[in-house]
Amino acid sequence: MPKDFLSLADWSPQELRGMLARARELKNLLREGQRPQTLEARCIALFFEKPSLRTHVTFEAGVTQLGGHAIWLRPDQVGVGTRETPADVAANLSRWLDGIVARTYRHALLEEFAEAAEIPVINALTDLLHPCQVMADFQTVAEYGPLESATLAYVGDGNNMANSLMLGAAVLGLTLRLGTPESHRPPASLRERARLLSEQSGARISWSEDPSEAVRAADFVYTDVWASMGQEGERESRRAIFQPYQLNADLMRGAPDARVMHCLPAHRGEEITDEVLDGSRSIVFEQAENRLHAQKAILEHLLLRKA
Ligand code: CP
Ligand code: NVA
Repeated sequence: MPKDFLSLADWSPQELRGMLARARELKNLLREGQRPQTLEARCIALFFEKPSLRTHVTFEAGVTQLGGHAIWLRPDQVGVGTRETPADVAANLSRWLDGIVARTYRHALLEEFAEAAEIPVINALTDLLHPCQVMADFQTVAEYGPLESATLAYVGDGNNMANSLMLGAAVLGLTLRLGTPESHRPPASLRERARLLSEQSGARISWSEDPSEAVRAADFVYTDVWASMGQEGERESRRAIFQPYQLNADLMRGAPDARVMHCLPAHRGEEITDEVLDGSRSIVFEQAENRLHAQKAILEHLLLRKA
């Protein structure tokens, strides 16, 4: 079992299903008012180079609910790469704490933390991947029926969300149709990784440049912003590229039974219209809620491992 939670591709289908089952259990327990103290007195660092609402709040609340304590580290105070090397920061934290949750621009920096840390490192989003979000998304989809029988569609930018959805679907043997411009498909190396994983799992992952084809008769239609954190300067140019991929009532007519998914935050009026985001088929706040439960399950899985 991997020490860290950096990419869904590092995990077996059994391990991911185990975490999803525990996430469901923790959700039910919390609804009954129960907060199992499985991480009593454990301390976790939260290190975020980028802004966050959902990931920050759900990790901090989740650790507290499990009986632990989260320590918010401000990047300007820690000075990774300026005051100290990433490896020295990770080595120090390993002497005091039980885990590190990190959101970084460069995925390589997260890998550097993980390499140097003796404690688990959890990916809270990088430019490349967002695996915690996808665990919450799969938990959400599974609340509507078996994951394996769902047809998922993702339209828009082949970004960190698309990459992690693709890898997660590949590990778990799911059906995923990606609709992105040819120029903005997930990177070839990740597509190859997904292809190899799909050979083992039976996943059906396909790609189309045509958003209507991608969403046709899907059960879940997912989108994300066209300009991710760090790409704000490209927002205008990207708007022109991705306009045909906007999730609007017209595109959704091709998937009349589909639920609508978005990791949030949304750029309303860009990748998704208000009408669709606020419509009766939108399950975006279920996704957001499940961040809490999915991440508690991930934390338990990593921190309570058998020696
Ligand atoms: N979906 C998500 O990760 O949201 P935040 O950027 O607010 O954490
Ligand atoms: N692709 C988005 C996801 C935000 C949760 C970003 O990286 O900004």
